[in-house]
Amino acid sequence: MSTFAVAFKIALQHGLVVGVDLPGTGAAVDEEFFELLHPEEAAHARTLRGFRQEQFVGGRLALRSACAGLGRTVGPILVGPRGEPLLSAGLCGSISHKRHLAVALAARDTGGSIGVDFEELDQPRMGVAGKVLRPAELSAVMALPEERQWTATVTRFSLKEAVYKALAPRLQRFIDFSEAEVEPDTDGQAQIRLHLASGPVPVDVEARYVWAARGILTTVRARWA
Ligand SMILES: CC(C)(COP(=O)(O)OP(=O)(O)OC[C@H]1O[C@@H](n2cnc3c(N)ncnc32)[C@H](O)[C@@H]1OP(=O)(O)O)[C@@H](O)C(=O)NCCC(=O)NCCS
Repeated sequence: MSTFAVAFKIALQHGLVVGVDLPGTGAAVDEEFFELLHPEEAAHARTLRGFRQEQFVGGRLALRSACAGLGRTVGPILVGPRGEPLLSAGLCGSISHKRHLAVALAARDTGGSIGVDFEELDQPRMGVAGKVLRPAELSAVMALPEERQWTATVTRFSLKEAVYKALAPRLQRFIDFSEAEVEPDTDGQAQIRLHLASGPVPVDVEARYVWAARGILTTVRARWA
């Protein structure tokens, strides 16, 4: 696996997704990779350490590649007030990373906002379910055969993380896991019902999930009035 190489590009309903391999060592990133970033991104990356540095670099490279795939060149992708990636006008994007992979979703901005999340299927830790699922979601998961419960939990968790990334930049506040109820269908779509405590409410939220080679990839698009 070559470091910071593009691992895949997939055109999905909510935009173009690019995956970039990460070294996963936590060692300082080589200068040659900083040079692939915008100088302002590189300046920020140099302030980071360990895994955080390689994840930031990989995420920016993935998002730059996704934007290029849409035929757009972008200025610096800076860090917004709540940690979200800030893109040039006319584009929206989102980033997720794990130890060995960074993924980014980019789309033309048509009055919407998007979120992406990637999760690996680690060893089951069903204690997570009670922390991130609403009571009705928990009941639905626990009604499944035991061997499917962890996958169902991770899918719902990932969808909620993608919801967060699509909504938080507009709401400009933390959104609790209880504020979205997600229900994956069997065809790669998921139903989202919001229970927002405050803030603007999108007129529509749609979600998709797909099994990628190394885990589950979820995308969300919100439309605003
Ligand atoms: C912010 C959060 C979603 C990030 O998820 P994570 O699993 O820690 O990390 P990921 O690798 O998937 O995503 C990290 C990327 O999220 C993006 N991000 C961070 N904060 C963000 C925000 N407020 N809005 C949009 N994107 C954000 C960044 O691009 C970041 O990567 P970068 O710093 O390299 O640019 C998570 O830390 C969190 O706070 N979750 C709890 C809130 C939640 O999910 N609620 C559910 C609501 S239904």
